[in-house]
Amino acid sequence: MKGKFITLEGCEGVGKSTQLNMLKEYLEKTGQEAFFTREPGGTPVAEAIRKILLDQSLTIEPKVEAMLFATARISHIDEVIIPNLEQGKIVISDRYIDSSLAYQGFARNLGLDFVQTVNKYAFDVCMPDCTIFIDMDPEFSWRRQKGNKISNDRLENEKLEFHKGCYIGFTELAKVFKDRIIKIVPDIDKNETHRRIVEALKNKGVIK
Ligand SMILES: Nc1ncnc2c1ncn2[C@@H]1O[C@H](COP(=O)(O)OP(=O)(O)OP(=O)(O)O)[C@@H](O)[C@H]1O
Ligand SMILES: [Mg+2]
Repeated sequence: MKGKFITLEGCEGVGKSTQLNMLKEYLEKTGQEAFFTREPGGTPVAEAIRKILLDQSLTIEPKVEAMLFATARISHIDEVIIPNLEQGKIVISDRYIDSSLAYQGFARNLGLDFVQTVNKYAFDVCMPDCTIFIDMDPEFSWRRQKGNKISNDRLENEKLEFHKGCYIGFTELAKVFKDRIIKIVPDIDKNETHRRIVEALKNKGVIK
């Protein structure tokens, strides 16, 4: 593939979107063509599945949840990620496969094997060149420090135990996929976190 595929991962409220916005500005300023997207979502079908996944009125069985994420991902890969990579762009996704592995594999206890199997297509055709994991305990996330806002997101509203499970998951994944996943401990100063992310991505050769 001509382009580079970068994903940003981490627990809720640790500053992923904040850092993606800063990265977007950096890439624009330095004249690097990038396409930003997010999961679950990125295509009309995947956005429709997102609505189901985040709907608080639904009880979704873990295996069904894992399959819905994986299904949305196939649409995202074929319709958005691969076509943009083929055009030579840097594609950057707010969450991707590691969120499935951490949330459903670890926090929902389905196990890595099950979630990897369900996501075989992504593993076969579209793995990130580099993944930034914002390494921050969800108990102390920026959002929690600021006081929890009321959310109507089914996953965000899971109890702290669940989010802790996701964090353990991400930490384990960073060991399993150590060539791909770079851990960045965020600084209180978001400009410093941004500097660390840019440096890591440059060292990996996925941005200039
Ligand atoms: N370094 C920082 N210091 C203080 N607050 C921060 C910092 N970085 C981000 N925040 C704030 O923390 C909150 C959560 O950040 P953000 O929305 O970027 O997190 P997120 O990881 O994208 O969350 P989600 O998983 O829900 O999408 C926002 O209010 C943001 O302004
Ligand atoms: Mg966000």
